[in-house]
Amino acid sequence: MRVLGIETSCDETGIAVYDDKLGLLSHVLYSQIPLHADYGGVVPELASRDHIRKTIPLIQQALREANCAAADIDGVAYTAGPGLAGALLVGAAIGRSLAMAWGKPALAVHHMEGHLLAPMLEANPPQFPFLALLVSGGHTQLVAVEGIGRYELLGESIDDAAGEAFDKTAKLMGLDYPGGPLLAKLAVQGDSKKYKFPRPMTDRPGLDFSFSGLKTSAANVIAKEGSSAQVQADIAASFQQAVVDTLVIKCERALVQTGYKRLVIAGGVSANTSLREQLAQLLKRHGGEVFYPRKEFCTDNGAMIALAGYYRLAAGQQQDLTIGVTPRWPMQELPAV
Ligand code: KG4
Ligand code: ZN
Repeated sequence: MRVLGIETSCDETGIAVYDDKLGLLSHVLYSQIPLHADYGGVVPELASRDHIRKTIPLIQQALREANCAAADIDGVAYTAGPGLAGALLVGAAIGRSLAMAWGKPALAVHHMEGHLLAPMLEANPPQFPFLALLVSGGHTQLVAVEGIGRYELLGESIDDAAGEAFDKTAKLMGLDYPGGPLLAKLAVQGDSKKYKFPRPMTDRPGLDFSFSGLKTSAANVIAKEGSSAQVQADIAASFQQAVVDTLVIKCERALVQTGYKRLVIAGGVSANTSLREQLAQLLKRHGGEVFYPRKEFCTDNGAMIALAGYYRLAAGQQQDLTIGVTPRWPMQELPAV
């Protein structure tokens, strides 16, 4: 089975062709980051308009690179949520219409399920069940995963997501949008013990997160210490360590609670090297293993959408003719496969 995947939920247009026998045949990505950089964040209307310009040419490119014609595609999968309504509608309208024109089934994919399954594209895919830490710009969630569509939400952020905390703190430091990767780069030169940032909600039981207070702590340090290059690097390193420690503490609790020995990390922040290293050490202490996607599939991409769509289409699930999106969509509402 060969699936075309379309991702347009935020500021990246990602298209891919996945084949269950041959693997990923092509994947192309267009990032709108330069378009939004002047505004310090994603402007939804500009995002939608740019997806309209880019989606069809990128589909043509992905099909060409996969060396396949429209007739070779057995199903079309597009992100239907969560995300920006207008941006989602572009991918949904194009994906649903193409599937109808081609006489093939369509599938509305949950963006976070795409992230969650992205490590399955790698050479050593995780077996079920596993614990998943989903850390993106919009979500921070701990999920017990027993199979595709069998998700139990163990904890989530009650305010800012981890990626959002990275981006907001980076913005306070004068870094460009999205600041997460830039802050992580600065952190390499800094002293992670220089400033004492809180490890929010680790002093009480439970698996929820709260990251909004961290940026206030960072703002206070910036106001007091100025912003020399060394101060910036030390703030970056100390802030990153506070986020990583918090995530590691909660992952350890969730591993103990579930008894699982496998941890999947996915979403944009899973590209963070320090987070990967410290979670790998945690799993080593527990006699387990950590799994993550290659860096380019940590952030938004079409490959993870094609893959998630494939699993559901192969099980006979499909979307009716409605062109619909679900900007707010709890992952637990997904049917099992
Ligand atoms: O998954 P993603 O591409 O989009 C959403 O679905 O939200 O995640 C983007 C987020 C941004 O907040 C970005 O700053 C963060 O992931 N990010 C990182 C790193 N790379 C991306 N945060 C920390 N360290 C990184 N290396
Ligand atoms: Zn994402």
